[in-house]
Amino acid sequence: MNQKRRIIIDCDPGHDDAVAIILAARNPKLELLGITTVNGNQTLEKVTRNALNVCQYLDIDVPVCKGLAGPIVRAAVPAEERIHGDTGLNGPVFGPLTKELDPRHAVDFIIETVMDSSEPVTLVPTGPLSNIGMAIRKEPRILNNIDEIVLMGGAYQHGNVTPAAEFNIYADAEAAHVVFSCGRPIVMMGLDLTRQALCYPEIVDRMAKIDTKAGKLFVDLMRFFCMTQKKVFGWEGGPLHDSTTIAYLLDPTCIEVKAMHTEIDITGGPSQGRTNCDFFNLTDKVKNTKVAVKLDAEKFWDIVEDSLKLYD
Ligand code: RIB
Ligand code: CA
Repeated sequence: MNQKRRIIIDCDPGHDDAVAIILAARNPKLELLGITTVNGNQTLEKVTRNALNVCQYLDIDVPVCKGLAGPIVRAAVPAEERIHGDTGLNGPVFGPLTKELDPRHAVDFIIETVMDSSEPVTLVPTGPLSNIGMAIRKEPRILNNIDEIVLMGGAYQHGNVTPAAEFNIYADAEAAHVVFSCGRPIVMMGLDLTRQALCYPEIVDRMAKIDTKAGKLFVDLMRFFCMTQKKVFGWEGGPLHDSTTIAYLLDPTCIEVKAMHTEIDITGGPSQGRTNCDFFNLTDKVKNTKVAVKLDAEKFWDIVEDSLKLYD
């Protein structure tokens, strides 16, 4: 069997982050080394509690480490309460939380885990890039053992928090600049791609037939997430943004990517936090990013269904 791909998920659960964890944790192709949390969809405390609850509910036995409570330079952006609710994971009801937080700071966990790994590690950020940017700055040598950074963030077309920018990148644009300019290959699941992964009601009904804890959790998550996405953006199905990162790792044929130079606007103007992707190679600069452009939705939802069936 091929070597399992070693990954760390850095996230801000968040409904779609939670589904990304579900897709990754039981899959035999991946070794989930740990989960780190970052302020984003909700406060650091809330997203960390959410990550612990998902792991406890699904018996996912990996370290969960708390990271930055806000961006590296600017003030924190407001939580995405209108999408994820006051807890950051409204919908599911969890029992008393007993899973303990790993005492290491997320940045230190990322550095220690990557430096100690005998095989290259893939970083999978699905929230603001504060922890990743800080880890790179604190210990640049981790770059020697990171094979790819497969992230959800950005857009080469329309943003979702400003016309120009997507939430994860906008929330800590300076950290995103560090990541996109670090020299390691970036695979960017931007909104252009993730808005093709719409969890329509018939998808929820399909997954509701899966008699596992993960199936039940997926449905409880999506009932809330799809309701708020329709209310705020008018989507008939909630875009499962973060899950596309794991789907790409599990089967890269389900997502078409296009190599582009990408740089982050940190000039503080109306396009602050935009991923400027050179779609037509007008600058002829180094193509540092594989930007996702097209989803094979049928393959994607099959991956989701197969993943939910891997649980008891
Ligand atoms: O813009 C979508 C991203 O912002 C997703 O990662 C979602 O979870 C929120 O963090
Ligand atoms: Ca997220």
